[in-house]
Amino acid sequence: MSPFLLTRNLPEHATDAALRADVLKGLTGTPKTLPPKWFYDAEGSELFEKITELPEYYPTRAEREILVDRAGEIAAATGARTLVELGSGSSEKTRFLLDALTELHTYVPVDVSESALTLAGQALIEERPGLDVHALIADFTGGMALPDTPGPRLVAFLGGTIGNLLPAERSVFLASVRALLSPGDALLLGTDLVKDEKVLVEAYDDGAGVTAAFNKNVLTVIDRELGADFDPGAFEHVAVWDRDNEWIEMRLRSRTAQTVKVPALDLAVHFAAGEEMRTEVSAKFRRDGVRAELSAAGLELAHWWTDGQGRFALSLSVAR
Ligand code: SAH
Ligand code: TRP
Repeated sequence: MSPFLLTRNLPEHATDAALRADVLKGLTGTPKTLPPKWFYDAEGSELFEKITELPEYYPTRAEREILVDRAGEIAAATGARTLVELGSGSSEKTRFLLDALTELHTYVPVDVSESALTLAGQALIEERPGLDVHALIADFTGGMALPDTPGPRLVAFLGGTIGNLLPAERSVFLASVRALLSPGDALLLGTDLVKDEKVLVEAYDDGAGVTAAFNKNVLTVIDRELGADFDPGAFEHVAVWDRDNEWIEMRLRSRTAQTVKVPALDLAVHFAAGEEMRTEVSAKFRRDGVRAELSAAGLELAHWWTDGQGRFALSLSVAR
């Protein structure tokens, strides 16, 4: 069997300290917020996989369609020998790239979710003897130390996950991605596109309530990790389209007036009835905006592909 390596870029207790800092800042701010990367414990990663199969959640299917159509072009344009994937999750769609990249030597999936990385990595090495899989547990917003593997390097960031960063965070993030590349290396970026409000809102508020369960899972994570007494049932899932910022905003709305204790932070947090706490944004993009953000980071847009219905875009940009 080919090698499967799992490296941790995060010190053993870094997640702990970061979670405490994020939760303290978020729950004592106005309005209250919670940071999105804490959605993805083992349960959260599984719930996200269920989201990708929902009839309302079109991004995964749209992006898969583009990957199936364009994997050959991506391989020809990049000749990548190393594929680094940020926020790789189940690596499910990535298989189309892995099939097409004939020169590929090493696949480096990077994720904060150790459970998702282990599951995906084990499956991949069984399916693909001959491929080196070097999985990395790391925060893609926090400076990653990539293994020293042969170029050219292709970094993939799929799923529209870039939309979960706020605009200021995106520019820092894109600059850090550019720093991982040598001139001529490439970034393959998935971005969900601005479209009809109803289609967008339903993708983030499905009929079966899976997205609601996913959103509330962050409360369960805080209960478990920080000994808090959030009752997920006391909050309601809300998804709204913010027309000015062109993002979907996920919130948790307190059903009643309540006080939640977070012992690990020595904190008691009061919620008014109906008070909303922001848990996540999912920004939607247009081509000119993506081109400009890439360019500001030293990345030149080379290809822009959309699915047949123009819902989602995959762009390939090259490091200057
Ligand atoms: N790429 C997959 C999964 C997208 S969901 C797809 O397209 O379907 C977002 C993924 O990013 C999850 O697996 C989550 O664990 C990971 N993630 C979220 N924030 C992260 C961060 N700050 N650093 C590393 N991984 C992160
Ligand atoms: N990257 C996904 C997206 O923005 C993450 C996501 C999907 C998500 N559904 C969600 C995050 C619901 C929070 C809540 O589309």
